[in-house]
Amino acid sequence: MPSAALLLWAPLPLLALPAVAALPGLAPTLLLLPAAFHATSHAVAACRATLLARGFAGRDLLKPHRPELVPESAGLPAAATYVLLLFCFIPFKYARSDVHDLEARADGAWQGQIGGRSGFPHHELSLYLCALLSILSSVLLGWLDDIFDIRWRLKMPIPLVASLPMLVVYHAGGGGTSVVVPGWPGFLRELLGRVIDLGPLYYVFISMLSTFSVHSINILAGINGVEVGQAVVIAASLCVNSAMYLDPRAGEPGSWASKELRDRHLFSLSLLVPFCGCALGLLRWNRFPSRVFVGDTWCYFAGQVLACAGVLGHFSKTLLLFFIPQVFNFLLSCPQLFGIVPCPRHRVPKVHASSLALYPSRALLKDAKPSAKLSALRRPILELLQALRLVQLEYDKRGAITSTTNLTLINALLVFAGVRGPPSLPADSADGEGKEAAADAAPSGPRITEPTLWGLVMGTQIAGSLLAFTVRYWLAGVVFPVQ
Ligand code: UD1
Ligand code: MG
Repeated sequence: MPSAALLLWAPLPLLALPAVAALPGLAPTLLLLPAAFHATSHAVAACRATLLARGFAGRDLLKPHRPELVPESAGLPAAATYVLLLFCFIPFKYARSDVHDLEARADGAWQGQIGGRSGFPHHELSLYLCALLSILSSVLLGWLDDIFDIRWRLKMPIPLVASLPMLVVYHAGGGGTSVVVPGWPGFLRELLGRVIDLGPLYYVFISMLSTFSVHSINILAGINGVEVGQAVVIAASLCVNSAMYLDPRAGEPGSWASKELRDRHLFSLSLLVPFCGCALGLLRWNRFPSRVFVGDTWCYFAGQVLACAGVLGHFSKTLLLFFIPQVFNFLLSCPQLFGIVPCPRHRVPKVHASSLALYPSRALLKDAKPSAKLSALRRPILELLQALRLVQLEYDKRGAITSTTNLTLINALLVFAGVRGPPSLPADSADGEGKEAAADAAPSGPRITEPTLWGLVMGTQIAGSLLAFTVRYWLAGVVFPVQ
């Protein structure tokens, strides 16, 4: 039962109705939030049994007492629901535009103009359709990855190609390719000027950004709800960021926002708001204890939606700020991703069977053979990370490093909190994954379970968003002064 105080506050959103009505397309966008939530939740529920029956299933690595398989790739029904809802949205957003009819031909012959009707927002519609195209190709790539487990070196560059339509419409819309040079040290502006045009390099940055966002969500994964939770926090933060530009009087005297800026953010919201609904509908099933796994389909889909919203909304650098935890996780992972340190198939933490306490998983170094050039880097990198309390190393009697905790943000949070696992024995498997000396030896340090660790990762993501807002709206003014 809602409390009386809550009922008093309930009419408050009604005050925003005139503003919502004055902003083109915002009302249908907002209606898509609950629609996407319920439709996704139902679609995922309906697909669970079929996914299991078709063999899309995985073992929950952190549930030693749960032998049954969990349906995998539930990101597919979520992404399909999203795309279908966005298709349905097109007539509501564009059909009422002030279009001028073409002259009818009296003889009934073929008619029409390849340039289309005047007054119709062709460019905005092409932005929308290109976003959908890029999103759909990412869903396809994620689905293929779920089926074929594509090798990293093959799947790394594919999102670059998927982002091509987005780059073309960015160019067609006169998207900027300049960056502001920092105000200090002073010689930078004397040398380069206040603004520097990166030209084609800026397009390289945008396509790398979409590739990064697609893969970065996939490597910050493996505990229940974390793939969806991080996407919800980033998308919600971007919605708050865009909402700040929604001035119904934009472009009129006295308003600080231009109409162009406002409409860009309205466009991004039309991608992000339904995405939040889908993500929350999926989280209902994916949160601890997961009743579905989202699969790579979700990670690729989510990364591409966020990239499209940022790039086509013309705030790609701001977008990157909201990925601070993902950037950190990627940089920390680099030694494993680039072969300096062995990378086991799964880098998720391990679980102690009787207490369900988590502890960092390990990669064994003993038998690993990095190239001669890279092996020299291994020790200084790992010891620096250990000094920063991000990894914990094991040494043999001669002082050689025998293993390291896996280089992920999730393991680093455990190491930082002081959790220590049992010492590892050499692995008998070829993937270099450590095996615990005594399966029953409890980890030392604070007891952190899977839901607590999920909370810690989400806390880090929210702290990252707060930092992003601070950098964007305070520090940027200091580092990039107008003069
Ligand atoms: C990425 C990570 C890998 C991590 C995996 C977990 C890199 C380079 N790769 O690999 O280290 O272990 O994601 O998703 O960083 N699973 C759970 N609980 C969950 C989610 C997934 O146990 O909450 C397990 C299930 O067995 C599931 C499997 O992870 O079947 C999915 O792994 P997959 O997405 O195929 O791994 P990658 O994306 O290749
Ligand atoms: Mg994955």
